[in-house]
Amino acid sequence: MRIDIISVVPLLLESPFTHSIMKRAQEKGLLEVYVHDLRDYTPYKHKQVDDYQFGGGAGMVMMPEPLAVVIEKLQQERTYDEVIYLTPDGTRLEQGMANRLSLKNNLLLICGHYKGIDERIRAHFVTMELSIGDYVLSGGELAAAVLVDAVGRLIPGVLNDETSALTDSFQDGLLAPPVYTRPAVFRGWPVPDILLSGDPKRIEAWRLEQAIVRTQERRPDIWKDGEEI
Ligand code: 6GU
Repeated sequence: MRIDIISVVPLLLESPFTHSIMKRAQEKGLLEVYVHDLRDYTPYKHKQVDDYQFGGGAGMVMMPEPLAVVIEKLQQERTYDEVIYLTPDGTRLEQGMANRLSLKNNLLLICGHYKGIDERIRAHFVTMELSIGDYVLSGGELAAAVLVDAVGRLIPGVLNDETSALTDSFQDGLLAPPVYTRPAVFRGWPVPDILLSGDPKRIEAWRLEQAIVRTQERRPDIWKDGEEI
């Protein structure tokens, strides 16, 4: 998968993909991430990319021309499955969307700043608008980093243990059960006996039960009683 990101603060996106799993995904050739500085595409003086909003009001708006230039340049080079604008008024990102996006070949992400981007770019170029939650960030870059991570780790071959994404929280509509590692007794606090029983069936049943209890207690909004799990 190739992901292109358009940003006015490209430095914000320098480190998130150069460590850990995102680094490995790129080293394995499964993921390519390119960050484009919007200021390289503005025809205006002083590398201007934003301007006052028509109708008045506080806050600047990202001008359409620089965005259209870079989007069209990239679209001439390849076909994008989605042109995604990261914005707090977009659809909230959930695991199902990350799963679907992980099967795409080319994604183009646009990070907004200030009051956002000119509505005409949204109307004529953007195919999907995503938010990462109901709070406001100062720009779309951190949201883009979240999206790339959530999607990138799901690309087949990225995770070492192919089953581990399947046991993530949310993948089966349940939060993940508690996990433990050595020592079996830490400061007098023991690991649940069942995990030391060596009985995979009972362990699996315990994990499912714990996942259900966790989901009911912590996320009643996603808990659906009686549904296939
Ligand atoms: Cl995608 N952008 C910004 N600026 N704030 C957000 C967001 C995105 N998602 C949640 N808050």
